[in-house]
Amino acid sequence: MPSALFSAPTHLNWFDFFHFTIRPNSMAKVTYITPSGNEVVVEDAIGNLMEIAREYDVEGIEGACSGCCSCATCHVRVKPEWLDKTGRATEAEQDLIDLESDTDERSRLSCQIEMTDELDGLVVEVAPF
Ligand code: FES
Repeated sequence: MPSALFSAPTHLNWFDFFHFTIRPNSMAKVTYITPSGNEVVVEDAIGNLMEIAREYDVEGIEGACSGCCSCATCHVRVKPEWLDKTGRATEAEQDLIDLESDTDERSRLSCQIEMTDELDGLVVEVAPF
């Protein structure tokens, strides 16, 4: 019997395992309205809103802490009609948002919003610096 049938796959690593088996998939669309008024539309958005914004060079989203919820450089305002689906800021988010200027009850940290199919069509405004 060929021994290759019983050997562990060597072409997969932990990143592959995480990326393909744990990370949620989404075929959803998200629109960012930048501080200068431009719209950036991302189809098939996968990941959290900060990661997606960085991948597509969305103006105003820095993500300095890479999503650890400790910088607030990913501040967005969710369009009111989407707040029920995204939910409001958690206590940890709100503590950081409170340190920013130009915030309101729609403010969220985009790194804390994971895209799902339920959020297909989501629109967020990127907060000015
Ligand atoms: S990237 Fe730092 S709080 Fe979101």
